[in-house]
Amino acid sequence: MPVEEFDWKAKWITKKDPKTFESNGDWMVKKFVQSYAMYFRKTFEIKGNISKAKIHISGIGYYELRINGARVGDKVLDPAQTDYSKIALYSTYDITDLLRSQNAIGVIVGNGRHIKAYRYDFPKLIVQVEIEYKNGKKETIISDENWKTSHGPLTENGIYYGEKYDARLEMKGWDEFDFDDSKWEMAIVTDGPKLSPEIMPPIRVVKTLKPVKMYSPKDGIYVYDFGQNFTGWVRLHASGPKGTEIKLRYAEVVNSDGTLNFSTIRNAEATDIYILKGEDTESYEPRFTYHGFRYAQIEGFPGVPTLENIEGRVVHTDVESTGDFYCSNELINQIHKNTLWAQLSNLMSVPTDCPQRDERLGWMGDAQLSAEEAIYNFDMHEFYKKWLKDIQLSQRSDGSIPDVAPAYNASFYPADPAWGTAYITIAWYLYWYYNDRSVLEEHYESMKKYVEFLKVNSENNISKLGKYGDWCPPGSVFPKRTPVELTSTFYYYNDVYLLSKIADVLKKSDDVDVYSQLAEEIKLAFNKRFLTPNGYDVIRMSPIDSGTGQTSNVLPLFYDMVPQDRKTDIVQKLLNLIMNDQDCHLDTGIVGTKYIFDVLSENGYADIAYRIITQESYPGFGYMIKEGATTLWERWEKLMGGGMNSHNHVMFGSVDAWFYKYLAGLSPIVAGWKRFRVKPYVVGDLKYVSSSVRTVKGNIEVAWERTNNVFKLKISVPAGCEAEVHLPILWEKYSVSENGKEILKDGKQIRKEKEVIFVGQEGDRVVFDVNSGNYEFTIVQNEE
Ligand code: BGC
Repeated sequence: MPVEEFDWKAKWITKKDPKTFESNGDWMVKKFVQSYAMYFRKTFEIKGNISKAKIHISGIGYYELRINGARVGDKVLDPAQTDYSKIALYSTYDITDLLRSQNAIGVIVGNGRHIKAYRYDFPKLIVQVEIEYKNGKKETIISDENWKTSHGPLTENGIYYGEKYDARLEMKGWDEFDFDDSKWEMAIVTDGPKLSPEIMPPIRVVKTLKPVKMYSPKDGIYVYDFGQNFTGWVRLHASGPKGTEIKLRYAEVVNSDGTLNFSTIRNAEATDIYILKGEDTESYEPRFTYHGFRYAQIEGFPGVPTLENIEGRVVHTDVESTGDFYCSNELINQIHKNTLWAQLSNLMSVPTDCPQRDERLGWMGDAQLSAEEAIYNFDMHEFYKKWLKDIQLSQRSDGSIPDVAPAYNASFYPADPAWGTAYITIAWYLYWYYNDRSVLEEHYESMKKYVEFLKVNSENNISKLGKYGDWCPPGSVFPKRTPVELTSTFYYYNDVYLLSKIADVLKKSDDVDVYSQLAEEIKLAFNKRFLTPNGYDVIRMSPIDSGTGQTSNVLPLFYDMVPQDRKTDIVQKLLNLIMNDQDCHLDTGIVGTKYIFDVLSENGYADIAYRIITQESYPGFGYMIKEGATTLWERWEKLMGGGMNSHNHVMFGSVDAWFYKYLAGLSPIVAGWKRFRVKPYVVGDLKYVSSSVRTVKGNIEVAWERTNNVFKLKISVPAGCEAEVHLPILWEKYSVSENGKEILKDGKQIRKEKEVIFVGQEGDRVVFDVNSGNYEFTIVQNEE
C-alpha cells in the first residue's frame, strides 16, 4: 500500500502490570526475558456508509492485528526490527471491507527483540484508524487510555526462548464486539519511539514443508526430519485430553542415536509449548518467536503422532526472487541452492548472521560479504535501504558505527572495518546494481563521517580497528595466516576508494580529490607495511599467525593495489599457495573467500577457481555438502559441539555471486545495468550454463552450451540496454556467426551487421557490442 502522509494522534499504550521473568540484561545469557504477551482491544460503532477505512499500527516487539475475529494481513514477526529507542516502523492496512456497524480491534503484542534489547521496557502498541464516510465526514480512532488490556493464552514468548500457549486460557471472541471485557483492565499511556512507515517487504510464512521422515529415538519422543535446514517454526495438529502439554523442540543436527543435538543453538531454548484445550483437532503455530532447524521434536503428544501432525513453516523477509542460475555441474547447482536457503534464512527484517542460536543479529560483516550474491538472487533494494538507515541511526557522534546494526550493545562499537564497510559497500551496491543515486545522497555525510573516523583511528594509514579480520578460515575462528591489520587496512582502502567514487557520482569534485588522494596514500602504506620480497608475507602480528595465506595476497590483487612490477609475481605466489600448499583448496576465511575467485578469474585462472569450488574434500563447499549441509556452515569444519558452530550462516555465500558474474558472465558496466557485460568463463567440465537476472532495466537472460567443436551463447538484452559480449576463443581456427549469419572468420570480420558490432579481439576473447534484443552467437571450430 502506498505511504500516505497523516498525523499521528494515537498514543503508545501498554499494560500496567506486565508479568515478566527475570533477565540479567546480558545479550548472551541463559535466561532470556520471556513474558506474557499482552492482549489489547477496542470496540467502536460506525454510523453511516463508509467509503474508505485504514488502520496504521505498530506494536513492539511484535504484534498480531485482528479485526472482528479475523487476522488482518499476512505479515508475521512485524514490525521489522529497528532500534526501538529511536524508531519503530508502522504498517497500514486497508480495512474498508472488514468493518461493520459494530467493530472490535484486537491486538496481541509480544516481546520480540524489543524486550531483549531494552530489558526494562515492556511491549507497547500504537494504533490509528482513519475512516472516511461517503458523505465526506472523517473519523479517527486512536489507541489511548480507553483501550482495554489483559493477559491471555500466550503465556510466554521470546525470540530465542520460544513460546508457551495455554489453549485452556483462550478467551473466545476476545477480538469481537460482543465480548465481555469487564474483567479486563484499562491500558495505560506510555512513551514510545518515533514512527516511520514500513516500506520494505514484510516477513511472511512463504512456504509449508512436509516432513520427509519421522522416528522415535526414545520413548515418548518423536523426531521429524524436514530434509532441509530453514528458518521458521512448525504447525502442530493434535487432539487429546484438556491440559495435555505438548513440547516442540528444534535443532539443526542430530546425535548418532537420532536424538536432537542442541549444541549448535547454544543458549537458545528454542522450545514451543502448546497445552491442549481438549477440543476436536487443535492446530497451533507460534507467533512471536522463530527457530533455525532441520529437525523438530515432539514430546508429550497424546498417542503416536504421524507425518501429518506437523508441518514446517518457512519464514523470512519475503523478498522477490530476481535471479536464476543453473548449470551442468550438479555440485555447483547444489552450492547455489544451499546459498539461497542460507541467504533467505538470514533475512529476518535485518540481515542476520544465523537463525538458530542465541544471536541472530545484524552482523555487518556477514551482510556485506553476501550482499552481491543476495542482489543477484533477490530484489534487495528496499531491504538494504532500510538497513542502511539502521546503520545511520546507530552512528555515534565520533563517526563510529557498530559491528551489528541495529546495535543492541555498546561492545559492538567501533566496528571492525571488515564489518563497518557494510555501510559504504552496500550503499555503493544499491547505486551500482539498482541505479539508486538518492541512497548515496541520503548517506553521504554519514559515510564521510565514518571514513573520517577510520582515518583518525589509523596510524600511518594502517587501520587499528581490526578485531576479527579474515574470520573463520579452516581450522579456526580467528585468522591464522592473515594479519587482522592487513584486512582492516584493505577495507579502509575500500571505503575511501568507494567514497571517492560516490563523491564523483554526486559531483563533489573537491571530495573526489581528497579521497582519491587518501586512497593512494593508503595503498602506498599497505604495500610498505605488508609487501615483502616473498609476496604479502608478513611480519607476524600475533602468535597465532603462522605464515602467509591466500587472503593476504588476494586482497591487494582485487583492487590492483599491487605495484605493477610485482603483479605477476604476486599472482604466482597466490597460485603457489593454492596449488602447492593447499592442494587446490582454500585457506581463506569469510573475507578472502569473497575475493579469491574473482581475483583468480581476472588473472586468467578461472579454471583454478572452478576446481577449488568443486572440491569435495575438506575444506570447501563440496565437503560441506558431502557431509550433509543443506545450507552453508559457519565453519569449514563439520562441528557438532557448541561455540561458534552454526550450520546456517550465509557469510561464505559470496561464492554464488561468482556463478552469476563469471560462469554466466553477467555484470553491469554502468550503474543500473544500462550497459552490461556478458563474459562467460567456459571452465572445467562445464557443458552449459543458463541464467537470468531481473534488473531495474528488465530481464537479462544468458544461456551457453558447448560441445567438442561448437560453442553457443544466447542472450537477451532488455529494451534501452546495451551489452558488451565477450566470446571465448576456444580454438585456434574458428568462425563466429550470429543468428545463422557468419560474421567473423579466424579473427577477421567478413560481414557487418547493424545490431552486432565487432569491437575487436581482447586476449582470448572476441568482443561484440549489441543493443536490446535477442541474440544467438555460435562459434564453430574450423578445420586446421
Ligand atoms: C557471528 C558472526 C559474526 C561474528 C563477528 C559471530 O558470533 O555469528 O557471523 O560476524 O560473530 O566476529
